[in-house]
Amino acid sequence: MTTTTGATAQDIRFHYDVGNDFYALWLDDTMAYSAALWENPDADETDTAVLTAAQRANQRLHLDRAAVAPGGRLLDVGCGWGGMLSLAAHDAHVGEATGLTLSPAQLAHVNSLGLPRVEVRLEDWRDHAPERPYDAIVSLEAFEAFAGPDLTTAQRIAAYTEFFARCHSWLIPSGTLSLQVIAFDSGVDGSGPVGAFFTRDVFPATILPRLSEVAAACDPYFSLTAAHSDTPAYIRTFRAWSARLLRNRDQAQAIVGAATYQRYRVYLKACEVLAHRGDLTVYRIVMRRRPQPLHLQA
Ligand SMILES: C[S@@+](CC[C@H](N)C(=O)[O-])C[C@H]1O[C@@H](n2cnc3c(N)ncnc32)[C@H](O)[C@@H]1O
Repeated sequence: MTTTTGATAQDIRFHYDVGNDFYALWLDDTMAYSAALWENPDADETDTAVLTAAQRANQRLHLDRAAVAPGGRLLDVGCGWGGMLSLAAHDAHVGEATGLTLSPAQLAHVNSLGLPRVEVRLEDWRDHAPERPYDAIVSLEAFEAFAGPDLTTAQRIAAYTEFFARCHSWLIPSGTLSLQVIAFDSGVDGSGPVGAFFTRDVFPATILPRLSEVAAACDPYFSLTAAHSDTPAYIRTFRAWSARLLRNRDQAQAIVGAATYQRYRVYLKACEVLAHRGDLTVYRIVMRRRPQPLHLQA
């Protein structure tokens, strides 16, 4: 299941196609699978309404930053179960929204929502060739799958650069890219037993980037206008998911079996602990398209 470029469709299905009913037990009502934006520090984060409000707030932030002109077109790279697309579908500004995923289970779920002016495609971004440019692109926590653990730093940056080159080619001249990405934030680099657990049992062929790699890769194509880390948001989201999965243990085990349930329990707890230790964080990043790509020395 390993690849030198990043997660394949098969790798993505290994993680995302274990059952939509299973994920619905512990995600929020929008089925967002990324760190939320928490506004009330005292609210019970495991409450479905509170978690849903925090996920909606995060989607709203990215959509506002994307600043789609009235009637404009939005692309969501790695749209998951369509949380962002459902917000965009009911946003007066967005004329059309397109989502890309490599998961047939996610595709089926988004299609079942019957969202107006939304198209979801089972398509790798490497194969995406839109007929018309987009006003803006959002991508929340898909970037982590764009490079694999067996790449050198230079190869990882090359893989990320390919993504930014594509985004540049898909956008209108003044287009914006609003990105959310989990990243290493200490000397930890994914090697060792914890890293092996993640790349073997949780997210095959996936490695987290460092912020410096994202910055180097985007530089020829985008001006990086904001990058904020929000470790508390990451911890709180994983704590909420973890508690909700535990609360629904019997139903979860009935859907995916005891071994898969246990694997997800360990993974969710490990992410919370790693963020607590300062080993990883989540960034919200805004990028403005450069009029012409820069030809920078390697
Ligand atoms: C962690 S989920 C995030 C989903 C969604 N953005 C959200 O916030 O709920 C990662 C998503 O990225 C998608 N993905 C990963 N690699 C991809 C690729 N090469 N092309 C298209 N989608 C990809 C997966 O199919 C999945 O939908």
